[in-house]
Amino acid sequence: MQILGEKIRWAVIGPGGIAHKFMRDMRVVEGGEVRWIVSREMQRARAFADEWNVEHAADSLAQITESAEVDAVYIASPHHAHAAAARELLAHGKAVLCEKPLTVNAREAGELIRLSHLHQTFLMEAMWTRMLPLYQVLDRWIKEGAIGKPVAVVSQFCGLPPKDPSQRWFNPEMAGGALLDLGVYNLAMSQWALGRKPQRVTASARFAESGVDELIAATLEYDGGGYGQFICSMCASAENRLEIIGDKGSIRVPGNFIQAEKAGRWADGEFTSCDEPMKGEGFVHEIEEMQRCMREGAIESPLMPHADTLATMEVMDEIRRQIGLHYANDDLG
Ligand SMILES: NC(=O)c1ccc[n+]([C@@H]2O[C@H](COP(=O)([O-])OP(=O)(O)OC[C@H]3O[C@@H](n4cnc5c(N)ncnc54)[C@H](OP(=O)(O)O)[C@@H]3O)[C@@H](O)[C@H]2O)c1
Repeated sequence: MQILGEKIRWAVIGPGGIAHKFMRDMRVVEGGEVRWIVSREMQRARAFADEWNVEHAADSLAQITESAEVDAVYIASPHHAHAAAARELLAHGKAVLCEKPLTVNAREAGELIRLSHLHQTFLMEAMWTRMLPLYQVLDRWIKEGAIGKPVAVVSQFCGLPPKDPSQRWFNPEMAGGALLDLGVYNLAMSQWALGRKPQRVTASARFAESGVDELIAATLEYDGGGYGQFICSMCASAENRLEIIGDKGSIRVPGNFIQAEKAGRWADGEFTSCDEPMKGEGFVHEIEEMQRCMREGAIESPLMPHADTLATMEVMDEIRRQIGLHYANDDLG
């Protein structure tokens, strides 16, 4: 059982693109501070640490796992590197907040979840969208029956990352592709809104020259007559909206649903709007939620439980089986 001080002491692994956003939001978080930066190269670790005024820099994970002064670790390396780092950290009792997707496939995710239980150590996929204030209100609306029984979820998540196969988005060696990078959000939000895993999925893909999926169109079928549909793409531009359709009304999150602050509800012929600003750039909520769980001795968060991460990974495995997308050292069961 971890004894936690006044401030939870964090380490950050993979000081690249998204780690900067984490550091910006960490300035707003209460009850936590970053004490270590871990890179594959000491010079990069030191430069990032200096930029953010962090005391320690390291070029190996061992320095973190051996340190008694690290409580929690944010893994911000590319997808294919998540599992190995998380495995080590959990085995040493370090709480893990791991960027999405938690792993490349469901077998790896299941292994991490087992380790979290075995070592009674907190683990969460950094699905920050589900922790935003807006979605806490929408969750209440759905549970109160404001739109009746949810019947369908329709969403899109498209973006235009650089078509450079040396960078992670289009790089098959880094488990690149639209599904694992973007579709994971569509699936995590469908899982949240409908509260269960689809029984059947049917997917089609368009591939980039590098061999990764650059567009996925998928239909999900749920027991009890629920449906989901999403498009995720790295070669298209869209509003990126999310709509939850119930048997008495619907909820629409316009604009970029992954970092939304506004939504509208249509039910009984009336429109109700909701405006819930996020703290910082939105990561504050997932960090504070994790710290809250750690202080309660929990090993998972009710806002992004292990079972939901695993369900999403299993659906992504099935989609990849259907479209024939396999990565190196991959195991789709
Ligand atoms: N939540 C969000 O909104 C959000 C947004 C963007 C990305 N992400 C997720 O965050 C993760 C990182 O994305 P990013 O865009 O920040 O990636 P990135 O900038 O390409 O890489 C992050 C850092 O990881 C390390 N790294 C690079 N290649 C590696 C390898 N082969 N093995 C181990 N470490 C490696 C590098 O640091 P060193 O070389 O210094 O070790 C790099 O600076 C991805 O899983 C992505 O899905 C989440």
